[in-house]
Amino acid sequence: MSRRIGVLTSGGDAPGMNAAIRTVVRSALHYGMEPWAISRGYHGLINGDMEPIKSRDMSGIIQRGGTILKSARSDQFRTPEGQAKAAAMLDEKGIDSLVVIGGDGSFKGALHLEKLGINVICIPATIDNDIACTDYSIGFDTAVNNVIDSVNKIRDTASSHDRVYVVEVMGRDSGYIALYSGLAGGADVILIPEVPYDVEEVCKQIEWANGQGKTYNIVMVAEGVKSVSGKSPEESPSMEIGHYIQEKTGYDTRITILGHIQRGGAPTVRDRLLASRLAYQAIELINQGKSGKMLGEVDQVVKAFDLSYALAQEKQLNLDYYHLSKILASI
Ligand code: F6P
Repeated sequence: MSRRIGVLTSGGDAPGMNAAIRTVVRSALHYGMEPWAISRGYHGLINGDMEPIKSRDMSGIIQRGGTILKSARSDQFRTPEGQAKAAAMLDEKGIDSLVVIGGDGSFKGALHLEKLGINVICIPATIDNDIACTDYSIGFDTAVNNVIDSVNKIRDTASSHDRVYVVEVMGRDSGYIALYSGLAGGADVILIPEVPYDVEEVCKQIEWANGQGKTYNIVMVAEGVKSVSGKSPEESPSMEIGHYIQEKTGYDTRITILGHIQRGGAPTVRDRLLASRLAYQAIELINQGKSGKMLGEVDQVVKAFDLSYALAQEKQLNLDYYHLSKILASI
């Protein structure tokens, strides 16, 4: 009997997950393995929601956002009983290796399974790009491009009405999306969880810029920033910030929360390539008998890291981008 390997997606979906699934399946077949698709992440794993999958099932998915395997949260899998049940289910189906495509929460789950004797290889996929040991995670590039697409449109209307636009983007604890799209979208101000801010300074910056002849402004806010007072906000931080700006400066201000639009849509070339390269390497590692690894791309090279090491690292935001955006907004 050929070796059986399972693949699942877990956590928030990310564009490019399908490209990764496709490569896992086809590379497994290339190595003479039998790929099994597990639906709805760890929830489906516990419930035995899995079946063998063929190469042709992968046709026409590389360009689709989301995940054909679906994703779900599983409270049961957070418990040792749930984890044991998941491992037993894999045993029952004769699957000895698992490729987990998701974010760090999914990787922690994978580490539990590893300790229960399952071979696991993890592939980073989250629009937040908050996973260490990889420059980018699958989905980030598409999400940032989605944001830029929206910001371009917001600029049209902002400039027509001489308004301030506060644009809130995703990133629960991470400023990556706000920083990259803020810099690429020419924002006047970028607010990210990693750097404390003073709303008075934000107002001053807008007033100064408009004093220099600007007629509209973009303030890019990561959803994870603290409230104006520094505490966790009661309402969305961008609402609070927008209302404050309107009141303080008198400029007509609008707030746009982009929300899940950022997470959908066809993956960019960059995400498809990243997904394909990491997924191929996942099968290579399984073929070599490796386990407990996370794959990442660092300086354009695909590398494998011990999962427990990767999980212990904190992803560092490149603050050069932040400083550059400040310079560009200050002249
Ligand atoms: O996948 C990451 C993410 O999009 C975060 O940026 C966001 O805070 C969260 O997921 C939203 O989660 P949900 O889709 O469960 O509302």
